[in-house]
Amino acid sequence: MTISQNLAVPAPRTGCPMDPSPAYRESTKDASIIRVDLPFGDECWMVAGYEEVRSVLTDRRFSADATRPGFPLVSAELKALAAASRSSAEFIDEQEHLRRRRMLTPDFKAKRVDALRPEIQKLVDEALDTIIADGGPADLMAAFALPVPSAVICLILGVPYRDHEFFEERGRVLLDYDASPEEMATARQELMEFMYKLTLAKQEQPDDGLISQLLETGDLTVEEVTGSGLLLLLGGHETTASMVALSVLTLLRHPEQLDLLRNDPSLVKGAVEELLRFLTVAQHGLGRVALEDVEIAGQLVKEGEGVLCMLSSANRDDRMFANGDTLDVTRDARGQMAFGYGLHQCVGQSLARAEIQIALETLLRRMPDLRLAVPFEELKFRDGSGIYGIKELPVLW
Ligand code: HEM
Repeated sequence: MTISQNLAVPAPRTGCPMDPSPAYRESTKDASIIRVDLPFGDECWMVAGYEEVRSVLTDRRFSADATRPGFPLVSAELKALAAASRSSAEFIDEQEHLRRRRMLTPDFKAKRVDALRPEIQKLVDEALDTIIADGGPADLMAAFALPVPSAVICLILGVPYRDHEFFEERGRVLLDYDASPEEMATARQELMEFMYKLTLAKQEQPDDGLISQLLETGDLTVEEVTGSGLLLLLGGHETTASMVALSVLTLLRHPEQLDLLRNDPSLVKGAVEELLRFLTVAQHGLGRVALEDVEIAGQLVKEGEGVLCMLSSANRDDRMFANGDTLDVTRDARGQMAFGYGLHQCVGQSLARAEIQIALETLLRRMPDLRLAVPFEELKFRDGSGIYGIKELPVLW
């Protein structure tokens, strides 16, 4: 039996919970591309340098289609989905992906999102009013970081917020690498049914939400609108919630950076960009598969081989961001890739930025003495999740 010398992914965070797994850094310190072992016995390439990640994500010779043989499957969910969809054509090809993406993009452009800022501000203030009225300590994750983006995406889509616990719980199972394939299949099925029923109801009784708008175009079937609606609902809450909670914690752990931000709230936009870079919550990378032979950093990647693009390593690449491991809310972090890059770059990034900016600015203004209510060592993080996060964030103010 040969024992693999490759790094096994996903690798745990054995160092500081605010830093990416040190194993990723260690294994890629002398090479921008390495061979790694995947959880299901396969191998693939891992690309870690900023330039290299960016070039893979913009190169049309790589596909994001997870049903293609060789695509690096890091979670049981993706594996089960890929197997199921080989027969049901559930995953869409790049052309079809582009067509559907174009329909969603206008609603998430910066201008449209700016118009939503007062609504977001209202939701942020209401959540804080409740927390302050109830008195501390409060779990900032459950009472603030999660409900705000959840309510915002519900508002945009026309999903009743009263169903939030239903979709939040199942959405979390889908991101959890430790959930069994059965648990994932059930969560997924229930979410599909939920969104399908809702889409049918919108067909009967349209409102001014995005689901109704997509139906009105007449260009998409009910199934397609269901798929897009679900993608946005799931993509739109846990990611942003994690970023809000982890950003607060990171600032509390870097009091000099927190002071800078408190003393000059105009820094908030840049600070959010820096926190996105520093934290890179899509922690275990983005999968792609080579459609033909391609050379990356002198290494031949053969047609059909998988590549994991490590956003977390790229975002801390010293060649792009000097002292990449240092949090500096005054740095110019534009160009960071927490939202991916290229064809599949996050549709909701303007919305996410607005939500995190408003949440942080308001929180720091209204809770000038914000602090952890438990020792840092007692906090529990979402290690086994595609999106890194924190389970609870107990605070006082
Ligand atoms: C801080 C919050 C967020 C982070 C870190 C994040 C991260 C990402 C990343 C890394 C991708 C690229 C996936 C790939 O290339 O394979 C992505 C895609 C996507 N995100 Fe986000 N996201 C966030 C918030 C949101 C929000 C608020 C929405 C919905 C309104 C959203 C909807 C989507 C969708 C629909 C895609 C798929 C785009 C495509 O395949 O063309 N995301 N996101």
